[in-house]
Amino acid sequence: MTGYFIAFEGGEGVGKSTQEALLADYLTQQGHVVLRTREPGGTPAAEQIRDTVLSRAHEGMNPQSEALLFAAARGDHVARVVRPALARGDVIISDRYIDSSISYQGYARALGADRIKDLSMWATGGLLPDLTIVMALDPEVSMKRVVNPDRLESEPMQYHRDVADAFLEIAAQDPNRYLIVDAAGTKEESARVIRERVMQELN
Ligand code: TYD
Repeated sequence: MTGYFIAFEGGEGVGKSTQEALLADYLTQQGHVVLRTREPGGTPAAEQIRDTVLSRAHEGMNPQSEALLFAAARGDHVARVVRPALARGDVIISDRYIDSSISYQGYARALGADRIKDLSMWATGGLLPDLTIVMALDPEVSMKRVVNPDRLESEPMQYHRDVADAFLEIAAQDPNRYLIVDAAGTKEESARVIRERVMQELN
């Protein structure tokens, strides 16, 4: 594989999509072929799973079933979009990946980080990002930005605190593969920090 795989992670309303767009524009200007994608989603089947798993019609879904649906979506996305793009040499920017499952289902739903990681590793044939960018912001601040909350965004504040703590804990374990960005700063400042790290990795 010759491409480069970047995942953006973080809680709700932390500004991931803004930073993904800025980074994609910058890398395109630098001559890279960039593919922006998202999870759950990225293929027709995975987008249908997304509709199901995030729908407020399914309030109270069995947590294990929720975890399996996220993993099922991820498997299709990796096999049919991410791996082919890596093989072409593209830079892939994914809104969320495996650490969302570990944080939301493994930690916040208390299904167990190792089990959830194993499930996703099985679903994807063991594909991990080259770099994961964790956008860190106090959930008390970020949740105020969420409009029309979906099923998971409607969880109580403690759930979002657990998610935010989990992302930081995961990222702290492996600084070579993670960048934690303080999302409380300006978007230009965050973009600069992200750009510098990505260019350092790509060169
Ligand atoms: P999100 O990425 O926040 O999209 P939007 O900003 O359009 O609402 O929505 C995805 C939701 O799914 C978010 O609440 C996090 C959750 N999620 C998991 O719980 N586990 C996962 O593995 C993934 C990929 C997402």
